[in-house]
Amino acid sequence: MNKKTVGIVGVGNVGATLAFILATKNICSNLLLKDLRENFVQAMALDISQATNASKSKTITKACLKNEEFKNCDVIVITAGIARKPGMSRDDLLLTNAIIIVVSNPLDVMVYTALKASNCPRNKIIGMAGILDSARMAHFIFEKLGYGQGQIEASVMGGHGNDMVPLADFSTVAGVRLSELLSKEDIEDIVNKTKNGGAQIVKLLETGSAYYAPAYSTTLMIEAILEDKKEIYPCAVMLEGEYGYENIVSGVPVMLGSNGVEKIIELNLKEEQKNQFAKSIASVQELVNILKEKLWNKHLKF
Ligand code: 2OP
Repeated sequence: MNKKTVGIVGVGNVGATLAFILATKNICSNLLLKDLRENFVQAMALDISQATNASKSKTITKACLKNEEFKNCDVIVITAGIARKPGMSRDDLLLTNAIIIVVSNPLDVMVYTALKASNCPRNKIIGMAGILDSARMAHFIFEKLGYGQGQIEASVMGGHGNDMVPLADFSTVAGVRLSELLSKEDIEDIVNKTKNGGAQIVKLLETGSAYYAPAYSTTLMIEAILEDKKEIYPCAVMLEGEYGYENIVSGVPVMLGSNGVEKIIELNLKEEQKNQFAKSIASVQELVNILKEKLWNKHLKF
């Protein structure tokens, strides 16, 4: 096993599930858990460590009560609901060389804020959403087809919001394009269900939101980084000219390796897809503007 340390800030359902997967699957050597609820995080660390011992994985899991302990992390995942602490603690971000994966919502704006607050280069702060949204799309493709489970490659780009851009043209089942398998109406239905995928679970749960799929999607990013896999995933990143946009975060296909985002892939989009992407960018920009006006000037000096 590699000698890598992963830190998770926020052990709610997503953070705890992620910790459970990382620890029991032996994905890192050390796992540090942090949460505002000190007793709770210690309980999580104990429970996960005991599960890890049952599974015979070598990962060592600990609750971390001091920020300094995070300094030696290779990857830090932020799942915490940070609305209470806009911009999160600068110390948490500045004192680390880790790659930071943001899972907190509103996702794209939180990635943007983390980048601005930390001054980290854009390859090091990445948002998890595209893998989740693509997995949801794959689920709805299977639901519609009734076959192909495990063979579906779905593709979603754009922000992690209602204006996300599910790309039916770039989605396949065992290499066969969706348009060969489904009608236009069926594809339209899949696109709408994908956009509503998170909300559907929130509605059914009544309290809370999805966590297994978000946690598993984050695991794929961590594995790609720790093992320098150079794999392509849709992730939320700061755009610096790609797709014609600057200084805004959105979900695009990237190559992930030990340096975080090592390459941004520019798809050749059709006019309609470009328009949808523009709409999604505008939604994120609107939120960034609200945050800038209402919070940043008061709480963050940059
Ligand atoms: C989701 O889409 C809440 O971002 C989370 O389920």
